[in-house]
Amino acid sequence: MVVYTVTAHTGKGLTAGTTSLIYIQLRGTEAESEEQNLNRIQGFWQGSERTFKINCKASLGELVSVKLYSKPFMGLLYNQWFCDKISVNTPEGDKILFPCYCWLDCNERLVLRPAKASLVFQDTNLIAQRHRTRQREEQQKLFRWRVHAQGIPQVIDYDTALALPAEVRFSFTKETEFYSSAGKQLAALKLTGLADCRRSWESISQLEVILCENRNKTIDYVQEHWDEDEFFGYQYLNGLNPMMIQHCSKLPENFPVTDDMVKDSLSGSSLEQEMKKGNIFLSDYKMLDGLVGNEVSGRQQYLTAPLVLLYCNPHGMMMPIAIQLKQKPSKENPIFLPSDSNADWKLAKIFVRNAEFGVHEVDFHLLRTHLLAEVFTMATLRHLPSPHPLYKLLFPHIRYTLQINIMARGLLISKDGAITKYAGVGGESLDNLLKRATASLTYSSLCLPDNISERGLENVPHYYYRDDGMKLWKIINKFVAAFLSHYYQHDAHIQKDTELQRWISEIFTNGFLGRDGSGIPSSFQTLKDLIKFVTMVIFTASGQHAAVNNGQFDFGGWMPNYPTALRKPPPKEKGQTTEDTILETLPDVSTTVNGMAVLRLLSKDSADHYPLGCFPEKLYDEEVPFKLVEDFQKDLRELSDLIEERNKKLELPYTYLNPKNVDNSVAI
Ligand code: FE2
Repeated sequence: MVVYTVTAHTGKGLTAGTTSLIYIQLRGTEAESEEQNLNRIQGFWQGSERTFKINCKASLGELVSVKLYSKPFMGLLYNQWFCDKISVNTPEGDKILFPCYCWLDCNERLVLRPAKASLVFQDTNLIAQRHRTRQREEQQKLFRWRVHAQGIPQVIDYDTALALPAEVRFSFTKETEFYSSAGKQLAALKLTGLADCRRSWESISQLEVILCENRNKTIDYVQEHWDEDEFFGYQYLNGLNPMMIQHCSKLPENFPVTDDMVKDSLSGSSLEQEMKKGNIFLSDYKMLDGLVGNEVSGRQQYLTAPLVLLYCNPHGMMMPIAIQLKQKPSKENPIFLPSDSNADWKLAKIFVRNAEFGVHEVDFHLLRTHLLAEVFTMATLRHLPSPHPLYKLLFPHIRYTLQINIMARGLLISKDGAITKYAGVGGESLDNLLKRATASLTYSSLCLPDNISERGLENVPHYYYRDDGMKLWKIINKFVAAFLSHYYQHDAHIQKDTELQRWISEIFTNGFLGRDGSGIPSSFQTLKDLIKFVTMVIFTASGQHAAVNNGQFDFGGWMPNYPTALRKPPPKEKGQTTEDTILETLPDVSTTVNGMAVLRLLSKDSADHYPLGCFPEKLYDEEVPFKLVEDFQKDLRELSDLIEERNKKLELPYTYLNPKNVDNSVAI
């Protein structure tokens, strides 16, 4: 007779415990134990650890799996159990960890594998092979793709978050917090009576009344500086969307800016000279060209597709020097200049900021972080079984992504969603913009080092997004490289890992729609290629999402800086715009406050969030990944210190890529 000592760890969540009967069976290479009921009298309570003895006639050999099974107590009473992990002390003196982190429902079974990661061709035991195949088949039935719209990445085939398997849903804390926060926002709006007010604002300063307790230092700064050129240029580098600016060495043919127009802005120098010095930059919103503005409350809204020329001046400030609001040059499409009347120049910048709302929310936030993170999540859940090292590596980076995206489809971009109701770019234009953005999506634009060099922004001063982002990219890359090199010792291992190859193939086909032109790989031949791709996946879900998500209320809370919709068409000639025209063009009171409420909700911290480098689930028990995680956390802490030190010297600190503020996954 030999004895196995089993410890069952129940999760710490509010409803994790159970009074149901829980049966366990150990399976080894030589034999399997009898099924044993662990929960005869005492229940498994939230956060508890309970230890049991399992007697076997002889050693089971090397343990391959643990089977858990649940039945109702007295045939009637049952509730789900959230098991964190099972650890087993073997008669041979080994301690083997079996991570779980799953709900076990009545009459269901769970098969757990040891924490030690393995690749498909290394996991040769028949039981292990069967488990891998079965897990993949079951996951593929649960997580099915759906074409949400032609020409955009495929999504999960569920309409409501309630239909999602419990493991990938919000925790009780997060769900309660989210809905209570949304409820409070709505109630506050109703109380103020502003939610349905279709009037224009009487003055810009009147907007103060709606900020009240929602203020913070950045919003105060934005309120004070929103119409200054220096801040307008600053936002191209360190605002909500630091992705739209690029170096300009030749003016686009449809943007006929002359030296005469900009000589004052260039302190007497010429465009050609400044281009040669590398000081001229462009932001071209051509992706919006031809899109028709949405109707908001039955009223037509107007979109533009501006071109903005910027000059990095001798003080290192990025200054706008010319704005053309539509792509096709004509008499009725004047090029606005800082030397124009205050009102003309201010309104031109407001149209640019509205164009920015469209490209930022639809392309850089929704598509490039949320929808891509959903693609990576789906492929991971469908193709990588729990013992796969890449599954373990990506597990923290897929938390809550499916649910937040289902909610975004239902609450933001659906027929009755907030974007459709309150944004000029909502409805049909949003669909078209999303398709255009998907069609032009490239692998290199998702990899920060390539992206920065493609946009020619290596040497621009005060580009904190780039400075912090490149350091963060390097830290993630170092961790990913060391982690994957531990499991894949040769390129041949990559090539014969059929699970990995299916993973990338599905990302290519369902996420990037099989577009070879995207540069996204459809298979991996080398470890180097895999490391780069996985670095991109983790950076996208963590740092990049934080950079384009977390400042939504900071920069958008002061509405004129980030108007969701504009009610008048762009001016066709100079000298006609007044301060009243600006108020008539900006969103009305209702659109403003509803837009603000959404931005507030989407920027709010959750108590249930996990910063980058935090691994609440113990999926490993091997020495090497443990050590790598420690090194990763140390690198992140050092970067955090560096950013905080730098920020002390800044009038407006750049905090979005401080690892402390970066969540592991797209969860909001
Ligand atoms: Fe987000």
